[in-house]
Amino acid sequence: MGALFPGLKALLNYHPLFVHFPIALWTAALLFELAARALKREEFDRTACAVLALGALAAVPAVFSGWSAQASVPDSGPANEIKELHENLMITASILSGILAAVGLFVLPRKPTAMLRAAFLAGLLVLCGLMAAGADRGALLVYHYGTSVDWSAAQKQQ
Ligand code: HEM
Repeated sequence: MGALFPGLKALLNYHPLFVHFPIALWTAALLFELAARALKREEFDRTACAVLALGALAAVPAVFSGWSAQASVPDSGPANEIKELHENLMITASILSGILAAVGLFVLPRKPTAMLRAAFLAGLLVLCGLMAAGADRGALLVYHYGTSVDWSAAQKQQ
C-alpha cells in the first residue's frame, strides 16, 4: 500500500483527503445557481441544489477528520488561534450548507418566489465567502505554521 501510495502513507492525519470535496461542490453549486440566473435555465437551478446537497454530505467527514486532526495543533499560541478560527468558519459553513440544501431541495421547488430565490443565492454567496476564508486559514495552518508536517522526515529527505 505504502509503495503504491507513498503520499497517503506520509499523511499524519486524513483531513486533507476529505476537505476538497465540500470546497469544490459548494463552489460548483454557486456557479450553477449563477448560470441558472444568467441563462434563465431552470435545470441549472436543480443541479445547483443537488450539488449543494452533495457538498453538505461531503462536509460531514471533513468536519470529523478536522476534529481528529486538531491534536497536531499546539494547545495555545498563534497556530491554535488560527485553528479555532478555521474550525468556527468551517462548522458555520457546513451547517449553512445543510440548511441551504434543505431549502433548495424541499422548499424552493414548492415556493419558487423571487424573494426566496434571491435569499438562496445570497446564502450561497455567504457560504462560499465563509468557505474561502476558512480554507485560507486551513492553508495558513499547513503552509505557514507547518501543522501536520513530519519535519524530521522532511529534513532527512533534503
Ligand atoms: C467542511 C469542513 C472543513 C473544510 C472544508 C476544511 C478545509 C481545510 C483545508 C483546505 C485545510 C488545508 C489543508 C490542505 O491544504 O490540504 C485544512 C487544514 C486543517 N483543518 Fe480543516 N476544514 C474543515 C473542518 C475542520 C474542522 C472542524 C477542524 C477542527 C479543528 C479542522 C482542523 C484543521 C487542521 C488542524 C488543519 C491543519 C492540517 C491538518 O492537520 O490536516 N478543519 N482544513
